[in-house]
Amino acid sequence: MKPEPILQFRGLRKFLANRWLLDISELSISAGQCMILSGDNGVGKTTLLKIMAGLEPPDAGEVSYDGKVLPLRTAPQQYRDNIVYLHQSPYLFDCSVIDNVAYGLRRLRMPRAAVQAKVAEVLEWAGLEHLGKRNAKYLSGGEKQRVALARARVLAPKVLLLDEPIASMDYKSRERTYVLIERLKKEGMSVVITSHELYAVLPLADVHMYLRDGKLHDERQDNTAAQMSSLITSENRHND
Ligand SMILES: Nc1ncnc2c1ncn2[C@@H]1O[C@H](COP(=O)(O)OP(=O)(O)O)[C@@H](O)[C@H]1O
Ligand SMILES: [Mg+2]
Repeated sequence: MKPEPILQFRGLRKFLANRWLLDISELSISAGQCMILSGDNGVGKTTLLKIMAGLEPPDAGEVSYDGKVLPLRTAPQQYRDNIVYLHQSPYLFDCSVIDNVAYGLRRLRMPRAAVQAKVAEVLEWAGLEHLGKRNAKYLSGGEKQRVALARARVLAPKVLLLDEPIASMDYKSRERTYVLIERLKKEGMSVVITSHELYAVLPLADVHMYLRDGKLHDERQDNTAAQMSSLITSENRHND
């Protein structure tokens, strides 16, 4: 049985760079699932994630969140707290890892002891206890990405949108990131990952969609030889 979607977009259109960059009839995200969103550079993956997160306006479309249908232009105000978008190079504040992770909880005016307990728990979850007092600005790319994941997870969103999370990461950092994403899935979070390095993220996928010419194709239903060969060609191009 297909799981109930937590988020579903219909008729999502965006005109950008003199063309209909996105023209997506339907996109469904289910609880606890990981969706890989692949496609060549410039095809609109980042724009799509930002629209989903409510950070960029679409030209048309509606969304249903938790079963309620809403116009996509105004809906994000209602579900913004439940959807977190993580930039490829996450912006971290110029302060300790602990303060970075605690930031969102303090904004919610959570009592100090509860903040401390939650932050300690999530740092352990992410294997970052030893870095708690370090300034987040001066960590490696992989460490920053894990701090950003911890900072997102501590707010317990329903959907996490990760834009190219493993780009420019070494093998070890990738492995650590995979482990954390698997944990998030097990905890029931929906995760959407964009990547142009398809074969590096495919093991995480429950669903694999790819974007081409503004349209979203479901790899399970649409697995023609031509499309596979175009993916392989694009992989090779990026590996050159
Ligand atoms: N704010 C913007 N103004 C004009 N063009 C943009 C803007 N943002 C992105 N684009 C263009 O839209 C296209 C899709 O970009 P993007 O969503 O970043 O693709 P991807 O993440 O798949 O590489 C690209 O051609 C890009 O140059
Ligand atoms: Mg991008």
